[in-house]
Amino acid sequence: MAFTVKNNITWVGKVDWELRRFHGDEYSTHRGSSYNSYLVREEKAALIDTVWAPFAKEYIAELEKIIDLEQIDYIIANHGEIDHSGALPELMRRIPDTPVYCTVNGVKSLKGHYHRDWDFRTVRTGDRLSLGKKELVFVEAPMLHWPDTMMCYLTGDNVLFSNDAFGQHYATSGMFNDAVDQEELFAECMKYYANILTPFSPLVIKKINEVLSLKLPLDMICTSHGVIWRSNPAQIVEKYLTWADAYREDQVTLVYDTMWNGTRVMAESIAEGIRQADPDATVKLFNAAKTDKNDIITEVFRSKAIGVGSPTINQGILHSIAALLEQMRGLKFKGKKAFAFGAYGWSGESVKMISDGLKTAGFALIGDGIRTLWYPDDDALRACVGFGKEMAEKIRQ
Ligand code: FEO
Repeated sequence: MAFTVKNNITWVGKVDWELRRFHGDEYSTHRGSSYNSYLVREEKAALIDTVWAPFAKEYIAELEKIIDLEQIDYIIANHGEIDHSGALPELMRRIPDTPVYCTVNGVKSLKGHYHRDWDFRTVRTGDRLSLGKKELVFVEAPMLHWPDTMMCYLTGDNVLFSNDAFGQHYATSGMFNDAVDQEELFAECMKYYANILTPFSPLVIKKINEVLSLKLPLDMICTSHGVIWRSNPAQIVEKYLTWADAYREDQVTLVYDTMWNGTRVMAESIAEGIRQADPDATVKLFNAAKTDKNDIITEVFRSKAIGVGSPTINQGILHSIAALLEQMRGLKFKGKKAFAFGAYGWSGESVKMISDGLKTAGFALIGDGIRTLWYPDDDALRACVGFGKEMAEKIRQ
């Protein structure tokens, strides 16, 4: 499947409808994904990014239906990660002398993955590559989302090839932002931002402002995953600026794990207290052991505050909560409040451990948390409701 994106730009990627896990087990892809590759045929022909290695042969077979591989003048590797460079070894076996344009770090990444010495041509922000009447302008974008990442902009057509930025793991037949379900699209965009780009938010703001300051007309954004933004492409740029600025909605999320339901009923009573004190807030509860971890992270991203709960086991916490705390530490959320809770039978360290983990992850702790000895009775549950009210008040402050 190949299709015209605009004028002489052709999409030559692969829609991966089956993908359910990405980055190993790190990211759930409930709706699949796509690896977008673009062929630009002006007086010179440039191929921008490729696809993941399992699809290399299929990709090249499809590409050959459109262009004699020998006619490809330039290969642009915006990013060395193998979901975009995976077909390069097979492609370069066929056209070994074709120059590969990438950043200095891109060379490190591509050599690191494939251990080949291709004809690398390194570029920096502002460098241009003539395709004839139109040019590709390169923009380095380190940490969006790896150090080697760059974007390129095609003059004349006013198209930004943004690589991972502004993408989504979303397999569609529509392929353009105005041809797909909007609710699904923006849910996947937010999940992608929350789980991948959150730690780099300061750089997102800086890079977007840098690109905006160039005042380049922008007709389309061609991402490397998911849909192409052809209808009001600025909308996703504006979303990124909003999400990068310590994003939060009027939501409190309680994430817990439980052994004999003690911590679960604590969570429900705390939620009741929050709702009583702040009826307008959305309060959501998730059992971390039963819920997709990336979906939980997206809910945390949307929240102004979170509560995290675990019973004490072996003088520690349940592993689903330990994993969540580690995941949140790496994501470096900003501007969110948090508290801990948990039931215990003997030593009771969990609440202190969770509080420490939340603090390390950059949350503003609002209190020492609440813990309940054994299974909570009516008095303990009333205390949890009261604690929820107290938390709602502190969240509001
Ligand atoms: Fe889609 Fe960073 O690779």
